[in-house]
Formats: sequence, structure tokens, C-alpha cells
Amino acid sequence: MDKQSQWKTSTGFILASAGSAIGLGAMWKFPYMAGIYGGGAFLLMFLIFTIFVGLPLLIMEFTVGKMGQTYTTKIYSKLTQKKWLNIIGWNGNLAVFVLFGFYSVIGGWIIIYIFNVAAQILSFNQTKLGEIQFESIIGSPVLTLIGQGVFILLTMLIVMLGVEKGLEKASKFMIPLLFIFLIIIVVKSLTLDGSIEGLKYILQPRLEDVSMEGVLFALGQSFFTLSLGTTGMITYASYASKDMPIKTSAVSIVLMNILVSVLAGLAIFPAIKSFGYKPTEGPGLLFKVLPKVFDQMAFGSGFYLIFLILFLFAALTSSISLLELNVSNFTKNDNTKRKPVAFWASILVFIISIPATLSFSSLSGIKFGAGTIFDNMDFLVSNILMPLGALGTTLVVGHLLNKNELKEHFGNNRFKLFLPWYYLVKFVLPIVIIVIFIVQFI
Ligand code: PHE
Repeated sequence: MDKQSQWKTSTGFILASAGSAIGLGAMWKFPYMAGIYGGGAFLLMFLIFTIFVGLPLLIMEFTVGKMGQTYTTKIYSKLTQKKWLNIIGWNGNLAVFVLFGFYSVIGGWIIIYIFNVAAQILSFNQTKLGEIQFESIIGSPVLTLIGQGVFILLTMLIVMLGVEKGLEKASKFMIPLLFIFLIIIVVKSLTLDGSIEGLKYILQPRLEDVSMEGVLFALGQSFFTLSLGTTGMITYASYASKDMPIKTSAVSIVLMNILVSVLAGLAIFPAIKSFGYKPTEGPGLLFKVLPKVFDQMAFGSGFYLIFLILFLFAALTSSISLLELNVSNFTKNDNTKRKPVAFWASILVFIISIPATLSFSSLSGIKFGAGTIFDNMDFLVSNILMPLGALGTTLVVGHLLNKNELKEHFGNNRFKLFLPWYYLVKFVLPIVIIVIFIVQFI
């Protein structure tokens, strides 16, 4: 069966692409990046990039997928008759491959935390959640490799068995539940002593905190959360039916992502200040702070466990889209090859992710370029491959595709948004991406 007819209704498409977008990026990466690059200033830059760069790019990727209706290492040549342009698809494929590698590290941490908290509850252990020692857990190479292996295995099984549809249906209530939990954490966090300091930190943009590096990482963050430049969203749009609403889907995905990122910030920063952590803790931030917040609630362990399960769910709906892209490119949408391709891609991802996992333990001393091996993998994807992929697609859409055909797929309503969008993609966005891209190497 050809995957190209996967979704009969636009709801399936919206749920899957929202599932791909909302994940670790908004909940785990946003707070720690904001903590390093100036809190409110980072939030402001992230909002500007997400609305003025991310949203038009997401609409662009949906349009390309809808027009091309095939896998992304072929879609560029199909649309332009230029074979070499498929390199943009391969760039995206490489990006998701490396991305899956370091994404699974954090997925593994969630799984380890789930087991820890569940064990604590089952043994009626009265110790506090706050005593779960991040350093001793994440410092164990064996434990973290097992966690990561389990995360990749879960992703692989979902993709192999083709049960993504079930997951998409489940996200109808899992995602709203996640929102509710985030709001509960925000409320608790804001009532902690000294929380106002943290609130100010994340909401008040201070100009002196803006750095070129921060600008670069804020752009990378909006690419990351919206899954842009990897062609992942093009793939999903290529599966969707012809009448899928591109603009409303894109707008709702962007709004949901902003909401989750802001809620994550409001949940974490007041608590950071209250418990005396530094905002610059790095990737472990969320895992260090949240147990302490849940400790302050009645039935905290139980609530924390439910939250972790929802968090894992959100991470899995993103990781399946990472594996799915590899599967669709290497099977060329021939579903009979789905299982072996999913299997071998997962094994390869596990292998390349070993150094990323160990960069929090035995390999933590190895530092170069952007930091540890983990940091470098993230930098390569978020700050190089994703912007390059998006740049390539803007050039194809703006300069090689037929404007009228684009307009037809874009759909023009009474707001007449086609032309502003088209010129943004054709001239403005490539310049923005190129300038920011070059500046990082100066
Ligand atoms: N957007 C996802 C997240 O924020 C990550 C992702 C990137 C997923 C690229 C698919 C493709 O967690």
C-alpha cells in the first residue's frame, strides 16, 4: 500500500504534525536555552522568530509536501526537474538521523525517571522526590544507555507495527491533559517563596542580555520546535489529502508550541529561583527542578509520575516522526519494506547515540566546538542542517516553482495572504537565514 493516501481527513494530519512538533523542544530545550541566553530576552527573540520566520516556513513546507506528494529525497526533483536539488531532502534526512540520536538520550532519561518514581511509589518509600539525584542517575553509563535503548525500541515498535494512528487518536486527550498538568505546575511554581524573581527573569526582556549567540540559538530553537528544515513536515503534508487546510494547521501548531514553551518557562523559572538553582544548569534543568516542585504538592509522586508519562508520550510522537522520515525515504514509500528499514535505522541511531549519552558520564571530559559531543550534535542539527534545509527550500519555492501553482495549493482567502507570504519566502527569509548563518562563523 502506498503511504501517500494515509490520512483521509485533515484531523489525522493536524494531530500527527502537531505531535511531531510538540515534544522535547518546547518542554525540555526551551527552558534550558532560555536559562543560558538571558531569560526574557531569549523568549522575545524566540517569539519573533517563531511568528515571523517559523510560521511562513511551516506554511512553505506544508505547501511543498502537498504539491509534491512523494518522499522528500525525490520531491525536489519531481517539482523542479533538477535531480541535484534532492540534496535538500538528503540534508533533512541526515538532520533527523542525528537529531534522533541525541533526542533519544533525553527520551531515555524520562524512562529512567518513570521507573524511579514508580518504584518509589510501589515501595511506599517516604523519601522525597527531590532526593532523586540527577547527577548519580545520569552519570551512570549503563543505566542511561538502557533508558535510551528502551526509548528507541518503543519508537521502532510503533513505526514497525504501524500503530501511529492509535497514537494520533490518543493525542486528542493526552495533549490537553499535558496542558492541564503544565498549568498545575505553573500555579504551584508561582506560589513558591521568591518565585517573583524567576517570573521576572523569564518575562522581562533585558537588552543587555541579548547576544549574537542568543539570537542564533533563538532561531535554532524555533526551527527545532517546529521541526523545520528537516523536511519532516513536508513528509507529513505529502501524506495528507489534497484539501487539508495548510494555513490553519500551521497557525494552530505554532500557537500550541508557543503556549507549551511559555508554560514550560513559567513552570521552571520561578522554581529555579525559589530552590536556589542557577538558570544556566543546561540540559538537566527540567529534571533537577521539577521533582522539587512536585514535592510541594499533595500526592506529588503520583502527579509527577502521570506528568512523566505524558511527557514521554509527547517525546514519542516526535521521535516516531524522526524515524518515519527515514523509513519513507529508504522504502520510497513501499510499505512492504517498512519493517526491515525501521529496524536497521533504529540500530544505526542507537549506535550513533552512544557517544551522545556518554557525554553526560564517561565522555563528559571531551569538549570541542559547541561543548560536549551531545551539544555538538544538537548544534549541527539546530544551527546548521535545519537552517540550511529551510534555506534550500525557500530558494526552490521562491525561484523555481510556478507562482500560480503555488497559489492554488496555498489557497487564497479574503485576507489575501498569498503575495505577502510569497515575497517573504522569496526574498526576506533567505536573507535572514543567510545573515544569521554567516554571523555565527565570524
Ligand atoms: N519538533 C520536535 C520537538 O520539539 C523535534 C523534531 C524536529 C521532530 C524535527 C521532528 C523533526 O521536540
